[in-house]
Amino acid sequence: MTYARIAKSSRYLPEFAVSNDDLSQIMETSDEWIKTRTGISSRRISQQENTSDLAIQVAKQLLAGEDPAGVDLIIVATMSPDAYTPATAALVQAAVGAENAACFDLSAACSGFVYALDVAEKMLRRPGGMALVIGAETLSKLVDWQDRTTAVLFGDGAGGVLIKNDALEPHFLASQLKSYGHLAKFLSAGQTSPQPFPGPVTGLAPFKMNGREVYKFATHKVPEVITACLEEAGVGLAEVDLFLLHQANYRIIKQVARRLDLPEEKFPCNIAEYGNTSAASEAILLAGLAEEGKAQAGDLVVLAGFGGGLTAAAQLVRL
Ligand code: ACO
Repeated sequence: MTYARIAKSSRYLPEFAVSNDDLSQIMETSDEWIKTRTGISSRRISQQENTSDLAIQVAKQLLAGEDPAGVDLIIVATMSPDAYTPATAALVQAAVGAENAACFDLSAACSGFVYALDVAEKMLRRPGGMALVIGAETLSKLVDWQDRTTAVLFGDGAGGVLIKNDALEPHFLASQLKSYGHLAKFLSAGQTSPQPFPGPVTGLAPFKMNGREVYKFATHKVPEVITACLEEAGVGLAEVDLFLLHQANYRIIKQVARRLDLPEEKFPCNIAEYGNTSAASEAILLAGLAEEGKAQAGDLVVLAGFGGGLTAAAQLVRL
Protein backbone atom coordinates (compact mmCIF):
# COMPACT_ATOMS: atom_id res chain seq x y z
CA MET A 1 0.00 0.00 0.00
CA THR A 2 1.36 3.44 -0.92
CA TYR A 3 0.03 6.93 -0.20
CA ALA A 4 -0.09 10.26 -2.02
CA ARG A 5 2.34 13.00 -1.06
CA ILE A 6 3.28 16.43 -2.38
CA ALA A 7 6.55 15.77 -4.20
CA LYS A 8 7.23 19.26 -5.57
CA SER A 9 5.72 22.74 -5.75
CA SER A 10 6.10 25.49 -8.30
CA ARG A 11 4.75 28.94 -9.22
CA TYR A 12 4.64 31.34 -12.13
CA LEU A 13 3.76 35.02 -12.03
CA PRO A 14 3.32 37.34 -15.01
CA GLU A 15 6.10 39.94 -15.14
CA PHE A 16 4.02 43.13 -15.29
CA ALA A 17 3.65 44.58 -11.77
CA VAL A 18 1.01 47.20 -11.00
CA SER A 19 1.52 49.18 -7.79
CA ASN A 20 -1.13 50.88 -5.67
CA ASP A 21 0.21 54.20 -6.92
CA ASP A 22 -0.28 53.02 -10.51
CA LEU A 23 -3.92 52.24 -9.68
CA SER A 24 -4.41 55.64 -8.07
CA GLN A 25 -3.64 57.13 -11.51
CA ILE A 26 -6.72 55.46 -13.03
CA MET A 27 -9.21 55.43 -10.14
CA GLU A 28 -10.08 57.30 -6.96
CA THR A 29 -7.92 55.39 -4.49
CA SER A 30 -4.60 55.63 -2.65
CA ASP A 31 -1.68 53.48 -1.59
CA GLU A 32 -2.54 54.28 2.02
CA TRP A 33 -6.19 53.10 1.72
CA ILE A 34 -5.31 49.87 -0.06
CA LYS A 35 -2.41 49.01 2.26
CA THR A 36 -4.24 49.65 5.51
CA ARG A 37 -7.48 47.89 4.46
CA THR A 38 -5.93 44.90 2.69
CA GLY A 39 -2.13 44.67 3.11
CA ILE A 40 -1.71 44.78 -0.69
CA SER A 41 1.08 46.93 -2.23
CA SER A 42 1.30 45.48 -5.70
CA ARG A 43 -0.14 42.78 -7.97
CA ARG A 44 0.94 41.10 -11.20
CA ILE A 45 -1.25 41.59 -14.25
CA SER A 46 -1.11 39.41 -17.32
CA GLN A 47 -1.24 41.34 -20.58
CA GLN A 48 -0.58 38.62 -23.14
CA GLU A 49 -0.92 35.32 -21.27
CA ASN A 50 -4.19 33.57 -20.57
CA THR A 51 -4.87 31.27 -17.59
CA SER A 52 -3.67 28.17 -19.45
CA ASP A 53 -0.37 29.88 -20.32
CA LEU A 54 0.34 30.47 -16.63
CA ALA A 55 -0.75 26.93 -15.70
CA ILE A 56 1.45 25.44 -18.44
CA GLN A 57 4.54 27.21 -17.07
CA VAL A 58 3.84 25.68 -13.66
CA ALA A 59 3.19 22.22 -15.14
CA LYS A 60 6.46 22.29 -17.11
CA GLN A 61 8.43 23.16 -13.98
CA LEU A 62 6.67 20.42 -11.99
CA LEU A 63 7.36 17.80 -14.64
CA ALA A 64 11.05 18.64 -15.20
CA GLY A 65 12.83 15.29 -15.05
CA GLU A 66 9.55 13.28 -14.99
CA ASP A 67 7.94 11.17 -17.72
CA PRO A 68 4.73 13.04 -18.70
CA ALA A 69 3.19 9.73 -19.80
CA GLY A 70 3.17 8.75 -16.12
CA VAL A 71 0.74 11.53 -15.17
CA ASP A 72 -2.69 10.05 -14.34
CA LEU A 73 -4.55 13.25 -13.57
CA ILE A 74 -4.41 17.01 -14.14
CA ILE A 75 -6.76 19.28 -12.21
CA VAL A 76 -6.70 23.04 -12.71
CA ALA A 77 -8.57 24.97 -10.04
CA THR A 78 -9.69 28.25 -11.56
CA MET A 79 -12.52 30.76 -11.68
CA SER A 80 -11.04 32.45 -14.76
CA PRO A 81 -10.51 29.63 -17.30
CA ASP A 82 -9.58 30.41 -20.91
CA ALA A 83 -13.04 29.19 -21.94
CA TYR A 84 -16.11 27.30 -20.71
CA THR A 85 -14.72 24.52 -22.86
CA PRO A 86 -12.10 23.15 -23.42
CA ALA A 87 -10.98 22.78 -19.83
CA THR A 88 -7.76 24.60 -18.97
CA ALA A 89 -6.43 21.24 -17.73
CA ALA A 90 -6.79 19.79 -21.24
CA LEU A 91 -4.67 22.63 -22.65
CA VAL A 92 -2.04 21.89 -20.01
CA GLN A 93 -2.16 18.20 -20.96
CA ALA A 94 -1.45 18.99 -24.60
CA ALA A 95 1.41 21.35 -23.76
CA VAL A 96 3.25 18.86 -21.53
CA GLY A 97 2.37 15.69 -23.45
CA ALA A 98 0.61 13.97 -20.55
CA GLU A 99 -1.26 11.70 -22.91
CA ASN A 100 -2.57 9.32 -20.24
CA ALA A 101 -4.00 11.94 -17.88
CA ALA A 102 -7.66 12.55 -17.06
CA CYS A 103 -8.09 16.33 -17.17
CA PHE A 104 -10.68 18.70 -15.77
CA ASP A 105 -11.08 22.13 -14.20
CA LEU A 106 -12.50 22.62 -10.75
CA SER A 107 -14.54 25.67 -9.79
CA ALA A 108 -14.62 26.52 -6.11
CA ALA A 109 -13.19 30.07 -6.39
CA CYS A 110 -10.57 30.80 -3.75
CA SER A 111 -11.15 27.42 -2.06
CA GLY A 112 -10.42 25.73 -5.38
CA PHE A 113 -6.84 24.67 -4.71
CA VAL A 114 -7.75 22.93 -1.44
CA TYR A 115 -10.76 21.28 -3.06
CA ALA A 116 -8.58 20.11 -5.96
CA LEU A 117 -5.89 18.70 -3.68
CA ASP A 118 -8.49 16.62 -1.87
CA VAL A 119 -10.05 15.33 -5.09
CA ALA A 120 -6.64 14.46 -6.54
CA GLU A 121 -5.53 12.64 -3.42
CA LYS A 122 -8.73 10.56 -3.46
CA MET A 123 -8.50 9.79 -7.19
CA LEU A 124 -4.81 8.94 -7.35
CA ARG A 125 -4.93 5.28 -6.34
CA ARG A 126 -2.35 3.77 -8.73
CA PRO A 127 0.89 3.00 -6.85
CA GLY A 128 3.62 5.10 -8.47
CA GLY A 129 0.97 7.33 -10.10
CA MET A 130 1.29 11.10 -10.50
CA ALA A 131 -1.14 14.04 -10.52
CA LEU A 132 -0.72 17.72 -11.24
CA VAL A 133 -2.84 20.05 -9.12
CA ILE A 134 -2.61 23.63 -10.31
CA GLY A 135 -4.35 26.82 -9.22
CA ALA A 136 -4.24 29.37 -12.03
CA GLU A 137 -6.02 32.69 -12.53
CA THR A 138 -6.11 35.69 -14.80
CA LEU A 139 -8.60 37.56 -12.63
CA SER A 140 -7.69 40.83 -14.36
CA LYS A 141 -10.00 39.87 -17.22
CA LEU A 142 -12.91 39.84 -14.74
CA VAL A 143 -12.02 43.15 -13.10
CA ASP A 144 -14.02 46.30 -13.71
CA TRP A 145 -11.28 48.97 -13.56
CA GLN A 146 -13.98 51.54 -12.81
CA ASP A 147 -14.96 49.75 -9.58
CA ARG A 148 -12.40 50.66 -6.93
CA THR A 149 -14.09 48.44 -4.32
CA THR A 150 -12.93 45.28 -6.15
CA ALA A 151 -10.30 46.37 -8.71
CA VAL A 152 -7.60 47.01 -6.11
CA LEU A 153 -7.83 43.50 -4.65
CA PHE A 154 -7.05 41.04 -7.41
CA GLY A 155 -3.97 39.82 -9.28
CA ASP A 156 -2.94 37.13 -11.77
CA GLY A 157 -0.71 34.11 -11.21
CA ALA A 158 -0.43 30.35 -10.95
CA GLY A 159 0.99 27.80 -8.57
CA GLY A 160 0.79 24.07 -8.26
CA VAL A 161 2.08 20.79 -6.91
CA LEU A 162 3.13 17.43 -8.28
CA ILE A 163 1.51 14.65 -6.27
CA LYS A 164 3.06 11.18 -6.30
CA ASN A 165 1.50 8.05 -4.91
CA ASP A 166 4.69 6.52 -3.54
CA ALA A 167 4.78 7.29 0.20
CA LEU A 168 4.83 4.55 2.83
CA GLU A 169 2.76 6.59 5.28
CA PRO A 170 -0.22 8.92 4.83
CA HIS A 171 0.65 12.56 4.07
CA PHE A 172 -2.87 13.89 3.46
CA LEU A 173 -4.17 13.66 7.01
CA ALA A 174 -7.60 15.32 7.01
CA SER A 175 -9.76 17.71 5.02
CA GLN A 176 -12.91 19.77 5.32
CA LEU A 177 -14.63 20.96 2.16
CA LYS A 178 -17.59 23.22 2.89
CA SER A 179 -20.02 25.14 0.75
CA TYR A 180 -22.65 27.73 1.72
CA GLY A 181 -24.71 28.21 -1.42
CA HIS A 182 -27.26 30.42 0.34
CA LEU A 183 -24.51 33.09 0.56
CA ALA A 184 -23.73 32.95 -3.18
CA LYS A 185 -24.98 36.50 -3.80
CA PHE A 186 -22.12 38.04 -1.81
CA LEU A 187 -19.46 37.27 -4.43
CA SER A 188 -19.75 36.68 -8.15
CA ALA A 189 -17.81 37.10 -11.37
CA GLY A 190 -18.53 36.00 -14.92
CA GLN A 191 -22.28 35.97 -14.23
CA THR A 192 -24.29 34.99 -17.33
CA SER A 193 -27.99 35.44 -18.01
CA PRO A 194 -30.45 33.83 -20.42
CA GLN A 195 -30.82 35.91 -23.59
CA PRO A 196 -33.96 36.55 -25.62
CA PHE A 197 -33.90 34.71 -28.94
CA PRO A 198 -31.97 35.67 -31.07
CA GLY A 199 -30.00 37.66 -28.49
CA PRO A 200 -26.52 39.16 -28.80
CA VAL A 201 -23.42 37.26 -27.67
CA THR A 202 -22.66 38.69 -24.24
CA GLY A 203 -19.33 39.37 -22.53
CA LEU A 204 -18.40 38.29 -19.03
CA ALA A 205 -19.77 40.26 -16.11
CA PRO A 206 -17.06 41.60 -13.79
CA PHE A 207 -16.59 40.98 -10.06
CA LYS A 208 -19.42 41.95 -7.76
CA MET A 209 -18.75 41.63 -4.07
CA ASN A 210 -20.17 42.53 -0.71
CA GLY A 211 -16.77 42.95 0.95
CA ARG A 212 -18.08 43.23 4.50
CA GLU A 213 -20.14 40.04 4.27
CA VAL A 214 -17.20 38.13 2.75
CA TYR A 215 -14.94 39.49 5.49
CA LYS A 216 -17.38 38.39 8.21
CA PHE A 217 -17.79 34.98 6.58
CA ALA A 218 -14.03 34.40 6.24
CA THR A 219 -13.10 35.41 9.78
CA HIS A 220 -15.75 33.03 11.21
CA LYS A 221 -15.69 30.06 8.84
CA VAL A 222 -11.93 29.72 8.29
CA PRO A 223 -11.19 29.11 12.01
CA GLU A 224 -14.15 26.68 12.02
CA VAL A 225 -12.94 24.56 9.09
CA ILE A 226 -9.35 24.56 10.39
CA THR A 227 -10.48 23.42 13.84
CA ALA A 228 -12.73 20.69 12.37
CA CYS A 229 -9.92 19.50 10.11
CA LEU A 230 -7.45 19.19 12.98
CA GLU A 231 -10.03 17.45 15.18
CA GLU A 232 -10.62 14.91 12.41
CA ALA A 233 -6.88 14.13 12.39
CA GLY A 234 -6.48 14.28 16.18
CA VAL A 235 -3.79 16.94 15.78
CA GLY A 236 -3.49 19.96 18.09
CA LEU A 237 -3.20 23.52 16.76
CA ALA A 238 0.22 23.91 18.37
CA GLU A 239 1.60 20.91 16.44
CA VAL A 240 1.05 22.61 13.08
CA ASP A 241 4.15 24.30 11.64
CA LEU A 242 2.50 26.55 9.07
CA PHE A 243 -0.99 27.80 8.23
CA LEU A 244 -1.14 28.76 4.55
CA LEU A 245 -4.32 30.77 4.15
CA HIS A 246 -5.88 32.13 1.00
CA GLN A 247 -4.28 35.54 0.47
CA ALA A 248 -7.37 37.78 0.23
CA ASN A 249 -6.73 40.36 2.90
CA TYR A 250 -3.99 40.66 5.52
CA ARG A 251 -6.57 41.72 8.12
CA ILE A 252 -8.52 38.48 7.59
CA ILE A 253 -5.36 36.41 8.11
CA LYS A 254 -4.46 38.34 11.30
CA GLN A 255 -8.00 37.92 12.62
CA VAL A 256 -7.99 34.16 11.96
CA ALA A 257 -4.66 33.84 13.83
CA ARG A 258 -6.17 35.80 16.72
CA ARG A 259 -9.33 33.67 16.85
CA LEU A 260 -7.23 30.50 16.92
CA ASP A 261 -4.96 32.08 19.56
CA LEU A 262 -1.86 31.43 17.45
CA PRO A 263 1.16 33.64 16.68
CA GLU A 264 0.96 35.49 13.34
CA GLU A 265 4.41 34.15 12.45
CA LYS A 266 2.76 30.80 11.72
CA PHE A 267 0.68 32.49 8.98
CA PRO A 268 3.14 33.53 6.27
CA CYS A 269 1.85 36.07 3.73
CA ASN A 270 2.73 37.23 0.25
CA ILE A 271 -0.36 39.35 -0.30
CA ALA A 272 1.69 42.57 -0.31
CA GLU A 273 3.42 41.48 -3.51
CA TYR A 274 0.73 39.57 -5.39
CA GLY A 275 -2.72 40.61 -4.09
CA ASN A 276 -5.58 38.11 -4.21
CA THR A 277 -4.92 35.46 -6.87
CA SER A 278 -7.92 33.31 -5.86
CA ALA A 279 -7.33 29.57 -6.49
CA ALA A 280 -3.63 30.20 -7.15
CA SER A 281 -2.83 31.98 -3.90
CA GLU A 282 -2.01 29.14 -1.49
CA ALA A 283 -0.04 27.28 -4.16
CA ILE A 284 2.01 30.40 -4.98
CA LEU A 285 2.63 30.88 -1.26
CA LEU A 286 3.67 27.25 -0.71
CA ALA A 287 6.04 27.27 -3.69
CA GLY A 288 7.63 30.55 -2.57
CA LEU A 289 8.19 29.22 0.96
CA ALA A 290 9.66 25.99 -0.41
CA GLU A 291 12.06 28.00 -2.62
CA GLU A 292 13.23 29.90 0.48
CA GLY A 293 13.57 26.73 2.56
CA LYS A 294 10.79 27.94 4.91
CA ALA A 295 8.50 25.00 4.07
CA GLN A 296 10.33 21.68 4.15
CA ALA A 297 9.72 17.95 3.88
CA GLY A 298 8.24 16.73 7.15
CA ASP A 299 6.52 20.03 8.06
CA LEU A 300 2.90 19.79 9.17
CA VAL A 301 0.93 22.31 7.15
CA VAL A 302 -2.68 23.49 7.03
CA LEU A 303 -3.86 24.91 3.71
CA ALA A 304 -7.10 26.86 3.99
CA GLY A 305 -9.19 28.67 1.41
CA PHE A 306 -12.43 30.66 1.30
CA GLY A 307 -14.30 32.56 -1.34
CA GLY A 308 -17.04 32.45 -3.96
CA GLY A 309 -19.83 29.92 -3.44
CA LEU A 310 -19.44 30.88 -0.74
CA THR A 311 -16.97 28.12 0.08
CA ALA A 312 -14.44 27.38 2.79
CA ALA A 313 -11.98 24.50 2.93
CA ALA A 314 -9.02 23.23 4.92
CA GLN A 315 -6.52 20.45 4.34
CA LEU A 316 -3.91 19.08 6.76
CA VAL A 317 -0.82 17.71 5.01
CA ARG A 318 2.58 16.45 6.01
CA LEU A 319 5.02 17.82 3.41
N1 ACO B 1 -9.96 53.24 -2.33
C1 ACO B 1 -10.43 54.22 -1.55
N2 ACO B 1 -11.61 54.14 -0.93
C2 ACO B 1 -12.35 53.02 -1.11
C3 ACO B 1 -11.92 51.96 -1.92
C4 ACO B 1 -10.66 52.12 -2.55
N3 ACO B 1 -10.13 51.16 -3.35
N4 ACO B 1 -12.84 51.00 -1.91
C5 ACO B 1 -13.84 51.41 -1.11
N5 ACO B 1 -13.54 52.66 -0.63
C6 ACO B 1 -14.33 53.48 0.29
C7 ACO B 1 -15.78 53.12 0.27
O1 ACO B 1 -16.45 53.78 -0.78
C8 ACO B 1 -16.22 53.59 1.63
O2 ACO B 1 -16.42 54.97 1.58
P1 ACO B 1 -17.63 55.65 2.40
O3 ACO B 1 -17.33 55.35 3.84
O4 ACO B 1 -17.49 57.09 2.03
O5 ACO B 1 -18.86 54.97 1.89
C9 ACO B 1 -15.02 53.33 2.52
O6 ACO B 1 -13.91 53.22 1.62
C10 ACO B 1 -15.14 52.06 3.34
O7 ACO B 1 -15.55 50.99 2.49
P2 ACO B 1 -15.82 49.55 3.03
O8 ACO B 1 -16.31 48.70 1.90
O9 ACO B 1 -16.65 49.63 4.26
O10 ACO B 1 -14.34 49.11 3.47
P3 ACO B 1 -13.90 47.86 4.30
O11 ACO B 1 -13.15 48.29 5.49
O12 ACO B 1 -15.00 46.86 4.47
O13 ACO B 1 -12.81 47.21 3.34
C11 ACO B 1 -12.56 45.36 1.82
C12 ACO B 1 -13.20 46.71 2.06
C13 ACO B 1 -11.06 45.55 1.78
C14 ACO B 1 -13.03 44.83 0.46
C15 ACO B 1 -12.94 44.39 2.95
O14 ACO B 1 -14.32 44.42 3.17
C16 ACO B 1 -12.51 42.99 2.65
O15 ACO B 1 -11.34 42.70 2.53
N6 ACO B 1 -13.47 42.07 2.56
C17 ACO B 1 -13.15 40.68 2.21
C18 ACO B 1 -13.04 40.61 0.73
C19 ACO B 1 -12.46 39.35 0.25
O16 ACO B 1 -11.73 38.67 0.95
N7 ACO B 1 -12.75 39.06 -1.00
C20 ACO B 1 -12.16 38.00 -1.69
C21 ACO B 1 -12.82 36.70 -1.48
S1 ACO B 1 -11.95 35.63 -2.44
C22 ACO B 1 -12.74 35.21 -3.87
O17 ACO B 1 -13.55 34.34 -3.86
C23 ACO B 1 -12.37 35.91 -5.19
